[in-house]
Amino acid sequence: MSDITSHIREPFSIAGVCVANRLVQAPMAGITGRAFRLQARRFGAGLLCTEMVSSYGVTFGNGRTADMMTLTPAENPAVVQLFGNKPDVMAEAAVAAEAAGADIIDVNMGCPVRKVVKTGAGVALMEDEELAARIVAAIASAVAVPVTAKIRSGLRGRVTAPSLGRRLEEAGAAALAIHPRLAEQGRGGKVDHAVTNLLVKQLEIPVIASGGVQDPAGAAAVLAGGASAVMVGQAALGNPWLFADLLAGTEPHRRPLAEVLAEMGRFYTDLVVEHGKERAGRAMRKFYGWYLKPFKSGTGLTEALRRSGSFEEAAVMIREKYQLNY
Ligand SMILES: Cc1cc2nc3c(=O)[nH]c(=O)nc-3n(C[C@H](O)[C@H](O)[C@H](O)COP(=O)(O)O)c2cc1C
Repeated sequence: MSDITSHIREPFSIAGVCVANRLVQAPMAGITGRAFRLQARRFGAGLLCTEMVSSYGVTFGNGRTADMMTLTPAENPAVVQLFGNKPDVMAEAAVAAEAAGADIIDVNMGCPVRKVVKTGAGVALMEDEELAARIVAAIASAVAVPVTAKIRSGLRGRVTAPSLGRRLEEAGAAALAIHPRLAEQGRGGKVDHAVTNLLVKQLEIPVIASGGVQDPAGAAAVLAGGASAVMVGQAALGNPWLFADLLAGTEPHRRPLAEVLAEMGRFYTDLVVEHGKERAGRAMRKFYGWYLKPFKSGTGLTEALRRSGSFEEAAVMIREKYQLNY
């Protein structure tokens, strides 16, 4: 195996937080709860991330928001990602996140969703570099753990990541993650890791590259550009084995249905611990299609599984459909 594919297995550090390898689980709203994070860790991800958590929700004392950022020891090292646009509120939320077990606090500066952007948070912060830097500085002076930010290439056709990156580094950011698409691209269009490489050249701190990594060659290419680590998001949906494949440098391949079903059961068990049975059953619905995609489940089965009363019922339907022996 070439040096560049084995590089992903080497440890790195974010301001003293040791990460066992260069594989980071990407934050995904509505998806990367504790069960998902524990799964990513079981398959080898060195660093885990919560989904974005509202700083206002934290400071208002919203119970569900508090749950979203509570970490268990098995998840460390892990990042709590916060969104918001007020330095004092973000700093207060960061203090709570640190108390909830965060090893790193990340500021979301990449979310392009309207309801977030219109509050001045998410990618809107990329348009106000002064405010973005003040938020990072306020958090850095409020907590002992490192502060990072996750940015995009820029917005409104302008690539501003390198200049913003320098400002955030000066303000105290210990690392940056970049999803190198413009805000207006959403999740579509080309991911341009040339921008990641440009950012790497501008900064002393580690840069984590997010976007389009699906196989060892893709991860190796990004690391070869100088990024300290790769983040993996959508490609791991229904395919947690990808984390192990990336670390081993083996081509991602389809696992037998029995193994997939067993993993779905394991994931569901963690969802039940996290949310209780009823909410776990509902949460499971969005995952059926992802897990069964390689088996050409078709929308008919996926819809039927989504309508099923419980995971147990869904598992019986899957076994029947594919004539899997018990
Ligand atoms: C459903 C979904 C939710 C996401 N939520 C977040 C989020 O809460 N915070 C964040 O920084 N990025 C979020 N992202 C962006 C991902 O972290 C990642 O940067 C992006 O999907 C590109 O990487 P990928 O090609 O590996 O998926 C989300 C992406 C998806 C698909």
